[in-house]
Amino acid sequence: MDLKRKIAKRALDEIEEDTIVGLGGGSTIKHLVYLLKDSGRSVKVVTPSWETKQHCKEVGLDVVSIEDVSSIDIAFDGCDQVDESLCALKSGGGIHTAEKIVARLANEYVLLVDESKLVSTLTYDHPIVLEVLPQAMEVVRRQLETYQINYSEIRKSEKKDGAVVTEFSNHLLDVYMEPRTDHLTLETELTALTGVVEVSLFTSVITKAFVGSEGGIRELT
Ligand code: 5RP
Repeated sequence: MDLKRKIAKRALDEIEEDTIVGLGGGSTIKHLVYLLKDSGRSVKVVTPSWETKQHCKEVGLDVVSIEDVSSIDIAFDGCDQVDESLCALKSGGGIHTAEKIVARLANEYVLLVDESKLVSTLTYDHPIVLEVLPQAMEVVRRQLETYQINYSEIRKSEKKDGAVVTEFSNHLLDVYMEPRTDHLTLETELTALTGVVEVSLFTSVITKAFVGSEGGIRELT
């Protein structure tokens, strides 16, 4: 069986009847959508991902809006990299603001990854993504001058000319930084910059990760 499907199957074991479930984006979550459907479990789904929403609708899962729930029983998501302390880098997909809202609403926020994404401490091989108010891009870049940054670039749209525009009408700044070990401090500082809406470092919200390998699924807490 495909490893991602195995990880999704482990996640399914955690989902109880009549609960509100958060589902992020990516291919592992897509497996979970189909497994959840096949299980016949009656749940409501909240998702920050347009693609996941479409998959849920295709199979007839009940999708509700984030603003219509006051808490989520359990949420699952993928990431680009996670470390042994449950700090993660996300946002290849650029939807980290909504993902963090879901994470904060969730009683449990569980990452589903294969072992290639697990490191002892985050290496910042992927950019840290800042969702930025369009009017504040210059001021954000200026505030970043005091950090050890290799380079930063405004994310361009693949579909049309110009910058990506998020669902909250903001832009994305991909920031490539030298590795550091104080991930929580960095998340706190970057989030506090004038004009930054949210950052794609997740340091204090992940409760667990299921890490899949050929040898089995390891639970990281
Ligand atoms: C990107 C993400 C995605 O959730 C993640 O990339 C999905 O990974 P996969 O397709 O391996 O499940 O957070 O930032």
